[in-house]
Amino acid sequence: MQEFSSSPCIRFRLVRPIDATGRAWVTIGYGILLLPLQADHKNRASDAIADMAYSWNMSFPLDRPARIAVFASGRGSNLEALLQAFPPEGGLGRVVLVVSDNRDAPALHKAVQAQVEAEYVPWPKNGRVGFEAVALKLLLEHHVDLLLLAGFMRLLSARFVQEWAGRILNIHPSLLPDFPGLHPQRQALEAGVGESGCTVHFVDEGIDTGPIVLQRKVAVLPGDSEESLAARIIEVEHLAYPEAVRKVLAGEGLAKGQAPNAKR
Ligand code: GRF
Repeated sequence: MQEFSSSPCIRFRLVRPIDATGRAWVTIGYGILLLPLQADHKNRASDAIADMAYSWNMSFPLDRPARIAVFASGRGSNLEALLQAFPPEGGLGRVVLVVSDNRDAPALHKAVQAQVEAEYVPWPKNGRVGFEAVALKLLLEHHVDLLLLAGFMRLLSARFVQEWAGRILNIHPSLLPDFPGLHPQRQALEAGVGESGCTVHFVDEGIDTGPIVLQRKVAVLPGDSEESLAARIIEVEHLAYPEAVRKVLAGEGLAKGQAPNAKR
């Protein structure tokens, strides 16, 4: 009989190994609750249980420095701000892993320079499952508590974000819910708004739709181009993202009673 424990208070015990239908049975705690657990045929039931233990056992604040992973596809200026705010010896949180779907992403070099593990994980042509399986394995191996998307130009599956609900954040260069998706600075200029800014939010199944942790505003000036507005916004992003992470790690990221995947 296998037993898994991710904290002193939560124990999972595999009482019947994975069967032909891909189902295993586990008890939780002291054996009072018996639950079926559907596992992929290719995965060991123990892996699925470890995943479940992870997602059920997580709430902030933690009583130790949080282990942070960052997914980034490009330049990595937000990553740099996060690496400075949450260095390897940080007391509140530490960036321990950087993953990119882009082999040439400057973000990977920035991670290496900061002596943080940097992994290129290709995004297969036939879909995201291959990326997510490898990325999830890395997240589990590094005991990651909080996942930050920072210029990560891919859409993660509903299943993936649900597993990480409450533990996955994104930064977007507009005042959401205005101008989600691509080219938010261009959208803001075309709409003729007087101010824009950035939003740090929990990630849910939608595109830029999860609950907001914080927003920072900047003025849109006469004569602004997409580039000049983006440059003004990125400056506040570098302050806003670490600030939002501190808020989440303090257990203050969500309004009282708000679910991390609640629609706003
Ligand atoms: C930032 O504007 C971020 O809000 C958006 O993509 C950009 C990434 O920039 N999601 P960088 O790679 O962090 O420099």
